[in-house]
Amino acid sequence: MQRINIALDGPAGAGKSTVAKRMADKLGYIYIDTGAMYRALTWKALQVQVDVHDEQQLVALLNNCEIRLEPGENGQKVYVDDEDVTNPIREREVTNQVSFVASHEAVRLEMLRLQRELAKERGVVMDGRDIGTHVLPTAEIKIFLSASIQERAERRFLELQQKGEQITLAELEEEIKKRDEIDSQRKTAPLRKAEDAVEIDSTGLSIEQVVQQIVTLVQQKLGGE
Ligand code: CDP
Ligand code: CDP
Repeated sequence: MQRINIALDGPAGAGKSTVAKRMADKLGYIYIDTGAMYRALTWKALQVQVDVHDEQQLVALLNNCEIRLEPGENGQKVYVDDEDVTNPIREREVTNQVSFVASHEAVRLEMLRLQRELAKERGVVMDGRDIGTHVLPTAEIKIFLSASIQERAERRFLELQQKGEQITLAELEEEIKKRDEIDSQRKTAPLRKAEDAVEIDSTGLSIEQVVQQIVTLVQQKLGGE
């Protein structure tokens, strides 16, 4: 069976990583969470006190560490060199700084190189912000996953409540809006729907309903070859 690449982009909390993981499992493909790569670099920068606005130092840091994504029992594991950073990269401090790190052109160029290398054998489901537009412009299937800001904030709120984090729904909504704004307005590879992407608005849809819509697209693509 022909192996294809699937690009999934969209704003925070749209359901990208949950849906991408399910799709990868269904197809026996590799899931690549590009947001985790930007988060890992941000985590490292905060650890060693590199300024998130200092492009050159961030690139040097990226070139001097190894960011690895590995399959684990409970989902993907993320390592920086030999340190397991799967949980720390989801902390609020990283979340609120990551868009600054991701706004630098030289950082993005290096990430693009790493991400294309990971996808070169095809058979990947990759999620992020610029996958359909920049990283994998020839992906056979491109999805732009959206949802209302209220629903995205509520989804994230539930997750953070389960982790025992102290934050209100209104605060979280503001933080998500701010991150979406920086991601959409940066000069290099902003968050944008690729012209040939299919948009799926997941507001009010279950994860399974979204997955089914993408499965149908995959079947059409593979069946039509
Ligand atoms: O899961 P969540 O939507 O909160 O974010 P993420 O996918 O982990 O991405 C974290 C951040 O990394 C985004 O807000 C972007 O600033 C950046 N990112 C990016 O610029 N390009 C990508 N392809 C993926 C993530
Ligand atoms: O990766 P992204 O930031 O786009 O979103 P996510 O981390 O996959 O999804 C955020 C949360 O929304 C997760 O807890 C999902 O289980 C939930 N979700 C949902 O409730 N309904 C959907 N249709 C999609 C995701």
